[in-house]
Amino acid sequence: MLRSACHLTVLALFSLVTLTGDRLATGWRGIRVTSVSDEATSKRLARGKRLYLGAGACVACHGTDGRPTVPDAPDFTDTAWQRKHTDADIAQAIANGKGTMPAFKGSAADVEALTAYVRSFAK
Ligand code: HEC
Repeated sequence: MLRSACHLTVLALFSLVTLTGDRLATGWRGIRVTSVSDEATSKRLARGKRLYLGAGACVACHGTDGRPTVPDAPDFTDTAWQRKHTDADIAQAIANGKGTMPAFKGSAADVEALTAYVRSFAK
């Protein structure tokens, strides 16, 4: 009996922390818990964009807005195309090349950043 009362107390405390946690986190000078991952996401996108327009030269064939400038290249703004392709498909095409598209020689983090950037065209 004492044991289960103890469990209940722990459960109640846990719920309290879970329920108020969000509010405390957002209330504290307006800084949200999610801001850490938001920042990581925007940094990754910024890196992807830099590579897309720069070292990767993706822009030459895929356009500044993700619409193709060469035949055969997919339209990244097409949500149906985005749905049909996994992140792994996209990363693999970037790293290994596909058809007339050259392989991109960069780090895994570069490929990941480019993948995130390709995704961002359809959002
Ligand atoms: C010389 C032109 C060219 C360049 C440069 C190029 N691509 Fe492509 N890309 C293509 C073509 C053409 C296809 C279609 C290939 C196919 O399906 O045979 C393609 C396909 C893709 C796909 C779809 C892959 C799939 O699974 O269907 C992605 C994603 C992609 N490119 C991203 C990039 C990124 C990111 C870069 C820069 C690192 C880049 N491309 C550079 C021409 C290019």
